[in-house]
Amino acid sequence: MPYSALSHLGCPRCGARHDAGQVHGTCSCGSPLLARYDLRRIQVTPGDIAGRPADLWRYHELLPVREPGHVVSLGEGMTPLLAMPRLGRALGLPGLLMKDESPLPTGTFKARGAAVGISRAAELGVAAIAMPTNGNAGAAWSAYAARAGLRGLVVMPAAAPAITRAECAAAGAELYLVDGLIGDAGRLVSAAVPGRPGCQDVSTLREPYRVEGKKTMGLEIAEQLGWRLPGVIVCPAGGGVGLIGIYKALRELLELGWVRGDLPRLVAVQAAGCAPIVRAFGAGAASSEPWPDPRTVAFGITVPKPLGDFLILEALYATGGTAVAVTDEALLGEQRTVARLEGTVICPEGAACVAAARQLRASGWLSGPEEVVVLNTGTGLIYPQTLPGSPPVLPPCGPIPA
Ligand SMILES: Cc1ncc(COP(=O)(O)O)c(C=O)c1O
Ligand SMILES: [Zn+2]
Repeated sequence: MPYSALSHLGCPRCGARHDAGQVHGTCSCGSPLLARYDLRRIQVTPGDIAGRPADLWRYHELLPVREPGHVVSLGEGMTPLLAMPRLGRALGLPGLLMKDESPLPTGTFKARGAAVGISRAAELGVAAIAMPTNGNAGAAWSAYAARAGLRGLVVMPAAAPAITRAECAAAGAELYLVDGLIGDAGRLVSAAVPGRPGCQDVSTLREPYRVEGKKTMGLEIAEQLGWRLPGVIVCPAGGGVGLIGIYKALRELLELGWVRGDLPRLVAVQAAGCAPIVRAFGAGAASSEPWPDPRTVAFGITVPKPLGDFLILEALYATGGTAVAVTDEALLGEQRTVARLEGTVICPEGAACVAAARQLRASGWLSGPEEVVVLNTGTGLIYPQTLPGSPPVLPPCGPIPA
């Protein structure tokens, strides 16, 4: 049995097949490409997987890296699926769980996409990667590029979380800020790449393997529940790679026969100040329109026109899911509530999912008893400006107020 069951790259829009042994960007029709596997050849069982190391490479047959020696790892994966009893009671959702991605290298779920994307790029002979980012993906890809000995070019909006700049620079990436949004950064990157031989543009969904790394969240949730699926999974959606990856994972698991029954209803959560998917979903549309003047503190989900919008929307329609917009005020409030009730400081994008769960319970879309998994995509420590804390300063010999 080969290490990976990768067979080819498929186009979800026009159906074209592409050779997975070559470096590819998007399909000639403009769509992202998705990795396809020969699932019938997979002989490994969930029982075999249980005995493997607790990282995302335990699912290597369902990942694209063909040689184990090409795996570039910082120990990513198998993050906790935490019961949230006190928060769940407060929300009227006793079955609430949180998939907590904050312990990952670089502090966000972007480490999953970077580990798999960089490993596969290096395996295919890529010497350098270039990407636009809202910050966290740049930090993760810079770290894994350094680990693999690849050069990295990163362009991010000047307003992206400051710590992510430092992370890119510390890992030796060539870093630029742009006075604009992620789309502006993307245009600068795509103009620069042709002049840099051996450099691959690894922008969101413009290469096929980042989504494979993100897919492992879906595999882990199923395994952590004993190869059973929850009723609902609530994901923040910017570029939508997390949601598209989870949907892809769950379908592959159904095809393998490792899980049965209905897929979880998938919920895409966006900020009220940048909600192109919510608007498209409300209109029953198959793709989104660019969101004018996007703004939110949940910086990772500031994506006014995701390239994979049609894939996000398909996942929502196919699972009976929905799309929800939440205000910055609501998500910042939930960030504090979660820290106080459960002790974990989550990122604004994760807090948006908690706000969405509260909204969906209030509207009756969630009825209460179902098992709901909210995704916390990273640690709140990346966004110190969103956290409370200006305690009184005491003189060294002064009393503590009674
Ligand atoms: C912390 C965090 N959460 C969520 C997202 C959204 O990612 P995606 O929509 O591609 O899954 C990002 C993207 O930058 C992020 O940094
Ligand atoms: Zn195509």
